[in-house]
Amino acid sequence: MKEKGLPAKTVLKEIESRLNKDFTFNSGKVLGSMCTNPHDLAKEVYARFLEKNLGDPGLFPATAQLEEEVIQMLGMLLSNPKATGNIVTGGTEANVLALWAFKNANTKNGGEIIVPVSAHCSFDKAASLLGFRIIRVGLNGKFQVDIEAVREAINHKTVALVGIAGTTSLGVVDPIRELSDIALEHNLLLHVDAAFGGFVLPFLKEIGYEAPEFDFRLSGVSSITIDPHKMGLAPIPAGGILFRNSDLRKFITWKVPYLAGGEIEQATFVGTRSGASVIAVWALLNHLGREGYRRIVKRCMRLTWKLTEGIKQIYGLDVMTEPVTNVVGIKSDIFNIKLIAEKLRKLGWAVALFPRHIRIVLMPHINEKHVESFLKDLRNIVRELKG
Ligand SMILES: Cc1ncc(COP(=O)(O)O)c(C=O)c1O
Repeated sequence: MKEKGLPAKTVLKEIESRLNKDFTFNSGKVLGSMCTNPHDLAKEVYARFLEKNLGDPGLFPATAQLEEEVIQMLGMLLSNPKATGNIVTGGTEANVLALWAFKNANTKNGGEIIVPVSAHCSFDKAASLLGFRIIRVGLNGKFQVDIEAVREAINHKTVALVGIAGTTSLGVVDPIRELSDIALEHNLLLHVDAAFGGFVLPFLKEIGYEAPEFDFRLSGVSSITIDPHKMGLAPIPAGGILFRNSDLRKFITWKVPYLAGGEIEQATFVGTRSGASVIAVWALLNHLGREGYRRIVKRCMRLTWKLTEGIKQIYGLDVMTEPVTNVVGIKSDIFNIKLIAEKLRKLGWAVALFPRHIRIVLMPHINEKHVESFLKDLRNIVRELKG
């Protein structure tokens, strides 16, 4: 730090020129991210209420009330208006909180959590923090968790199962009904990670796509992660953790006595936390409503299928599986997919690379022209590789 500060104008200019090197969602080049431009209203609201601290809700009771309403609205979206929970920093914290509650509710010593190999790495972080052993089970031909493998992995140490509703790599949904039945049969907890799918799956049926079951309607589901900062269009940070009721959540509820607003009970990992995030989510849920989100999902799904059809027409390329949500996996049995990803990156496309495929997420910042321009570059790369 310098002894004497710089004028605000100079600092802003410097920041603008330094941040020029970052990708922007508006460029249409970011095809591999599950985040997007926050909605304008959410940006405005977020910037207006930066001082709100939900770590001290006694000082901000009105903001705390908005969080309760957000959880109720998300609960309704996930078929359970009685759900309890919090807006947290993201999917990672939400998944950790679910497993933390499972750990404290667990009467067994140690314990195992059965998780699909497709699960996000936040479950490894959670297991490492909480002393659980993660048992990773394989997938079926549709890249969903193999239900027979789940059954085989269950033993006296098993504490819980995890199902994914919108996998990180391909956006597919595990057979959550079957997982729910198994959880009930064996008296296990079941966490559903719908960090990505939570703002997509509830709208699919209404716009004519197949909509796999995944939410609290299935009585074995104990908790769900749903992230407003992915397909919810909220500013970062905004993840969501919802428990079926307060039974599990009470295991991660702590008294915090020292606050200016008076003693509280807190069920989040962090103390001081953003009220602005919560207010922004409240604004979006009320402004967009189901109708607004349905429109956004419809547009993303249309582009998902446009890209899918385009890829199928390129020699040597195919999709890993038919898309379920707005995620497409591009594979090739002929060309080296890593080389294709490198060439795409050289052309400025920010794509995500997985061991056997390139992941494209058709987020709201992508439009028709971006998809066409990407397909054109992909065709040229393949032509060049063919020689
Ligand atoms: C299915 C799933 N769960 C959890 C996460 C972690 O979310 P975050 O990066 O917000 O912590 C991701 C991230 O992409 C995800 O795809």
